[in-house]
Amino acid sequence: MGIRDLFKRRAEHGGLRSYAKQKMKAALGGQDAPPSSPERASSSKERQLPTAPDAEGRVAVAWSADLAEGEARTVLAGDAAVAVFRVDGQLFAIDSACTHEDGPLGEGTLEGGVVTCPYHDWRFEVRTGRCLSHEDRDVACYQVVEQDGVIRVGARTSSGTGERGGAHDDGLEVIVKQV
Ligand code: FES
Repeated sequence: MGIRDLFKRRAEHGGLRSYAKQKMKAALGGQDAPPSSPERASSSKERQLPTAPDAEGRVAVAWSADLAEGEARTVLAGDAAVAVFRVDGQLFAIDSACTHEDGPLGEGTLEGGVVTCPYHDWRFEVRTGRCLSHEDRDVACYQVVEQDGVIRVGARTSSGTGERGGAHDDGLEVIVKQV
């Protein structure tokens, strides 16, 4: 992707953070964008997720039925935007914000336990949070469990990095900053 394409994409989405917020709102059932399927709309509208944390402090973020095998979803766990994945029957949760430029990893492409960021194709292992595209750019991981048909996310199990920026696939370098 060239720099013109990058700026065009940013303009279309009103900025990367704005785009991520729009995607988050849609994922949480906001009115700016429809859910991705009628089934999901039905399940989230007809039932209310439990509001109380479980005994371990994990909060309900989604119904189990709303995350099929091989799928990804962005959820809100407390103040944290978290990307949850189901791979080979297991759940994994990592920070939703890509460590390149905050792209929404919960909207990425999941293949073989690796999610590819929808913005510039950086790749991350969902089991470990390890960034396969850039050294020292791992994302944080979270506890995630499934109880009584509900997916719950708990505390971080790894910290990841707060740094951002780095090379795009087209060689464009952006400023590295601490978030
Ligand atoms: S924002 Fe994820 S690869 Fe650029």
